[in-house]
Amino acid sequence: MKISIIGAGYVGLVTGLCLAEKKHDIICVDNNKTKVKKINNGKTIIHEEGLDALLSRNLNINFRASSNLHRAVLKTDVTIIAVGTPFNGKSIDLTYVKNVSKSIGQALYHKKDYHLVVVKSTVTPGTTDDIVLPIVEKYSKMKVGEKFGIGMNPEFLREGSAVKDFMNPDRIVIGSNDKFSAGVIKKIYKPFTKTEMLLTNNKTAEMIKYANNTLLATLISFSNEIGNLCATQKNVDSLDVMKGVHLDNRITPIINSKKISPGIISYLSAGCGFGGSCFPKDLSAIISFGKKKKQKMQLLNAVQDVNQSQPMKIIEILNRSYKNNLKEKNIAVLGLAFKEGTDDMRESPSIAIINKFIEYKANVIAYDPVAQMEAKKILESKRIVYAKSIVSAVKSAEIIVVLTAWPEFKNLHNIINNLQLEPLIVDGRRFLNKKNFQKYIGIGIT
Ligand code: NAD
Ligand code: UGA
Repeated sequence: MKISIIGAGYVGLVTGLCLAEKKHDIICVDNNKTKVKKINNGKTIIHEEGLDALLSRNLNINFRASSNLHRAVLKTDVTIIAVGTPFNGKSIDLTYVKNVSKSIGQALYHKKDYHLVVVKSTVTPGTTDDIVLPIVEKYSKMKVGEKFGIGMNPEFLREGSAVKDFMNPDRIVIGSNDKFSAGVIKKIYKPFTKTEMLLTNNKTAEMIKYANNTLLATLISFSNEIGNLCATQKNVDSLDVMKGVHLDNRITPIINSKKISPGIISYLSAGCGFGGSCFPKDLSAIISFGKKKKQKMQLLNAVQDVNQSQPMKIIEILNRSYKNNLKEKNIAVLGLAFKEGTDDMRESPSIAIINKFIEYKANVIAYDPVAQMEAKKILESKRIVYAKSIVSAVKSAEIIVVLTAWPEFKNLHNIINNLQLEPLIVDGRRFLNKKNFQKYIGIGIT
């Protein structure tokens, strides 16, 4: 099928390249001309495993980027909206979605054949039917069902494993208000033969996305709260506690005499809080949506509160160990991205933690295998030195704080032993083996 995708960010670019790999003809549109140029020069701009290979295989064959939305819509049969939907402090900011809907409508005015518009951006319930649809109708001067249809197809990929997630989806949710549109979306996903497709109306599809993300966020905040309580007691480690919870068959089911692992437990790890471009903003957006609907969102408010204070647990730990005096202490921060596998710094807990170190006049030596360029755009201070390797980051550090679970940090004990150092390790992700260190402390353990 000929498909245009509007927005060449994490979702748009990954969707475009994965659908190109499945033999669709893709035009990925972005109004950032530099991005478009880079993509057409074979650079994927974001760090995602497998993305470069997809681009080099499909570029100029059945994939290309463009900044001409109008032409892309006219040349394709389906347009997928994948632009950002940030939180503006009060509610979801639909500016980009509205702008794009207007441009799509204006292009459709000049189109003769049937066209399907699919919203993939995460949007609060009612956005597709009550905002996108009327805008497209207004500017195309057509009624839905005449020569265009509309659908909602939420995306569930995770950054860091985006290509793998898109290529092996656990489900495909197809929202639409008419059978024909649903059929066209089903056709897009025809190559995904093994995946269950769930057909709903647009509003339900929009709601599923929020229910899913906020449940995962709830599990994390729950684990952080339990972890924080564990840490108030000697000889109680939240990892052991969660292992005990994990063994409950209702949480980790047994199928064919085998426990399905890691299952839900992968979202029950205490840490320095969830970040990224989605959980924090989606929580805020759905809480504000609930308020508009006069529905109290007590639980989700608490989930947000726990997460906002969680990065400061790292500071509390250090203040306890150093009697509130971190001045001139050399602190190596390992990991800046909000999670491993990505260079995305959006809402990363490392930002609040490093800013606190700076406020306390500590010296920060930061290292991240891929996110340093992005970090420099956000974290700027004379007190931050960016190291070129783990070794140079830790060699003069009195304290090492691990904030992202990059696999290469697993070897930290060997690096420290080789350098004959004995720094205090503060594990903000609880993924190092505590037995490997002389001085180890972390979230969920005293
Ligand atoms: P992003 O910021 O990485 O990308 C959005 C892109 O849209 C940018 O490149 C921007 O230049 C472009 N854009 C904005 N206005 C445009 C216009 N008028 N014309 C053309 N291009 C335009 O955002 P993202 O992380 O890909 O997220 C997109 C949506 O998908 C959001 O609603 C998000 O919540 C949702 N989502 C994101 C993820 C994720 O892992 N990042 C996963 C699932 C769902
Ligand atoms: C999340 C969802 O997992 C995706 O399904 C969804 O599509 C996406 O949001 C979205 O809507 O954008 P993502 O934010 O990329 O994906 O990454 P996750 O792996 O879910 O991690 C989110 C954050 O939670 C990270 O900061 C991670 O370190 C943290 N986390 C995760 C924990 O603190 N503890 C855990 O047990 C698991």
